[in-house]
Amino acid sequence: MIRGLRPTARSVVMVTALASLGAGTLARAAELPRAPDDAAFAPAEALSVEIGRDLFFDPILSGNRNTSCATCHHPALGTSDGRALPLGEGGAGLGPERRATASNPPRVIPRNAPALFNLGASEFTVLFHDGRLRRDASAEGGIAMPNGLSLDQPLSPVAAQAMMPVIAPDEMAGQRGENPVANAVAEGRITGPDGAWQILADRVAAIPAYHDRFAQLNGPEAPIRMSDIAATLGDFISTEFRATNSRFDAFLAGDYDSFSPQEQHGLGLFYGKAGCHTCHSGPFLTDHRFHAIGLPQTGPGKGHGPLGFADHGHGAVTGNARDAYRFRTPSLRNIALTAPYGHAGSHTTLEDIIRHHADPGAGLATFAPAADDLAMSDEAEMMRIYAAITLQPVPLTEAEIAALVAFLNTLTDETPSQGRLGTPSAVPSQLPVDAPPENWPLSKPATQP
Ligand code: HEC
Ligand code: HEC
Repeated sequence: MIRGLRPTARSVVMVTALASLGAGTLARAAELPRAPDDAAFAPAEALSVEIGRDLFFDPILSGNRNTSCATCHHPALGTSDGRALPLGEGGAGLGPERRATASNPPRVIPRNAPALFNLGASEFTVLFHDGRLRRDASAEGGIAMPNGLSLDQPLSPVAAQAMMPVIAPDEMAGQRGENPVANAVAEGRITGPDGAWQILADRVAAIPAYHDRFAQLNGPEAPIRMSDIAATLGDFISTEFRATNSRFDAFLAGDYDSFSPQEQHGLGLFYGKAGCHTCHSGPFLTDHRFHAIGLPQTGPGKGHGPLGFADHGHGAVTGNARDAYRFRTPSLRNIALTAPYGHAGSHTTLEDIIRHHADPGAGLATFAPAADDLAMSDEAEMMRIYAAITLQPVPLTEAEIAALVAFLNTLTDETPSQGRLGTPSAVPSQLPVDAPPENWPLSKPATQP
């Protein structure tokens, strides 16, 4: 019996498959995950998914009616924005081409916009880079929400998350004095009949195409609350952005010959010598846990630390010093479509971020920061990031890095980018819809802000 392989019938199949990868790889290979099936995803009503699609692309949910979820999570940009750090509310244009406007200059959002693939799978119970929203049976609505907020009805984690960007001043709400939503947020009114959430829900309810479909979905007497809106956004994200039909899934289902020798080599490294699977585990290539891998802290930071330019990650959520600089292991599905990488978008290519993993201390020390990467010019902060690292260095040759990249490319499923419901050409509010230029490739190379 090979160490690390559980003696199930499936493992026997896998042993046979891995045997073709050569004895050395085989001896090191751990068990591969099972391909995710429909049972991994909660079902959603078609009408809810359709309403959620329109709301996802509709700037009506932003205080100044200028930003939609798609501004930072566009399917043509891998459900992200192709930027290291997003330009928030007030910017104009999409993705790498987004620019500041003079009339309402946007702020830089301190963390990379994560992709939204597979968040409807029930194993995704902890969201945000730092895990500040999570499933918790003892919390109201089943979700422990950030900032002491609570839900007025049970929601899935991905739906509950959709409640948050609309009340973030820099992302969607806007600044005090600009609109009633921003004012409510600035005065701490989030819940209740005059809170920011209800102001937004009333806006949506005033549009017949939303009002009538919500009546059909939830009953003619049911009020429209922000949590009802969030439920449809969650259903849309879960359904539209499911990405479980990759070449890796075909491999897991038994089509072993479809991988080139280099892809097989990469798979062997990922599940063997390089140890990637110890954190990027399971069908979605994440353990949903928090690790400190010493990525450079670029951008303005989250306001943590003595000078305010640090990002303490999970440590700021738990209040436990041991968790400082730990971030959630990201899922690697569709990773080829979602550059730049890392919680602050520090690395633009897969080669670069893998090279960092191979020797995180050296990666941190040799990173060339930009002038406004304040944390990187503070030696004490650099030492704190360095001291927290828990990732073991694994020396990798250039050929091995290339093989790992080849393997990561087999995790691509372009169905979400091509669209199940797809991007609407117009939305019920009649506000303009963010549309990428037609000639954008799905995996357009990323640029810095
Ligand atoms: C201005 C850019 C921006 C806008 C607009 C925006 N987001 Fe995000 N989104 C982000 C960033 C940045 C994060 C990560 C923040 C963090 O971890 O602290 C995020 C995180 C998320 C996550 C968690 C993903 C994960 O894996 O943890 C979900 C889900 C999400 N956003 C959905 C939405 C929805 C739905 C909307 C519209 C209601 C929206 N976002 C609007 C930038 C944006
Ligand atoms: C100790 C756990 C751990 C191991 C082992 C590990 N990773 Fe990671 N990986 C992480 C964490 C945590 C992050 C996110 C860190 C952050 O954003 O600060 C990450 C980020 C990444 C990213 C960027 C994802 C994104 O969406 O930005 C890629 C790609 C990646 N890892 C690939 C690999 C590969 C390939 C290996 C094996 C050579 C590997 N990882 C080994 C924990 C790990």
